[in-house]
Amino acid sequence: MRYPGQQYGKVAINSMNELVKEFKGIFDPPSPEVEILERLDPHRLPQHIAVIMDGNGRWAEQRHLPRMEGHRAGIAAVRAIVETAARLSIPVLTLYAFSAENWKRPRSEVSQLMRLLKEYIRKELPTIQKNNIRFQTIGRVDVLPSSVRRELKIAEEETQGNGGTRMVIALNYSGRLELVDAFNRLLKDAATYPVDEEDIEKSLYTKGLPEPDLLIRTSGEMRVSNFLLWQIAYAEIYVTEVLWPDFRAGHLLEAIVEFQRRDRRYGGIHFASLQST
Ligand code: FPP
Repeated sequence: MRYPGQQYGKVAINSMNELVKEFKGIFDPPSPEVEILERLDPHRLPQHIAVIMDGNGRWAEQRHLPRMEGHRAGIAAVRAIVETAARLSIPVLTLYAFSAENWKRPRSEVSQLMRLLKEYIRKELPTIQKNNIRFQTIGRVDVLPSSVRRELKIAEEETQGNGGTRMVIALNYSGRLELVDAFNRLLKDAATYPVDEEDIEKSLYTKGLPEPDLLIRTSGEMRVSNFLLWQIAYAEIYVTEVLWPDFRAGHLLEAIVEFQRRDRRYGGIHFASLQST
């Protein structure tokens, strides 16, 4: 189905027909995925989807495999979700790949995860490039092994002119440390007192990106795990029991359908209720 350099998501999706056409050859009728696609409103797609990819270990455990096999299988899910987000022309997709707390894992798991990340970038860069995806990282990336930093730098530099989906990988990331870094930046830049929300936003790793409007967590845990603490203030949270290595395009589409079903009030009240008061 996929090959390096394959092209998708070239046009902005303006109608249901365009949406179904974008997925032609991937999902063809009759299929449950086409039914989900037909329930999507192309005019109300999320602007930023953030994902807590969880459950790799449990996936491997269920199969009596080493944990690493779960992470390896998780790469297929990463590919599918990046491809789907690009096909839908979702402006930003942020994936939580390695938290600042993940250093507590066995040294061999950490080093294999780093290796997997390098392999992924090397293998996928042509496809990322061809599909106009811009690659970016957030987190305290400067302390990652130099060989990883090298691959990340190449991917960031080679894709910096791309205007399609922004693929953001959170690495050695912690929401609290991001705020610590932001406050220190403000102090260093001698920000004028009092600072406001905009000052803080401009000092975050996600400067310039829209806030996530949809936060997806796989494998059923009801936690935000120190992810994008400032940015998810108004995000719709969608938790699925599906383990990350099993998560595919159809699951992402289902999450978006559910997102579109929600009534987002941002602390206000719904328009219909306003008319009846
Ligand atoms: C959580 O599962 C997953 C991670 C900590 C790592 C996620 C990494 C990948 C999917 C591969 C590399 C990523 C990219 C973007 C190329 P867990 O191990 O905590 O699972 P468990 O809770 O079932 O033990």
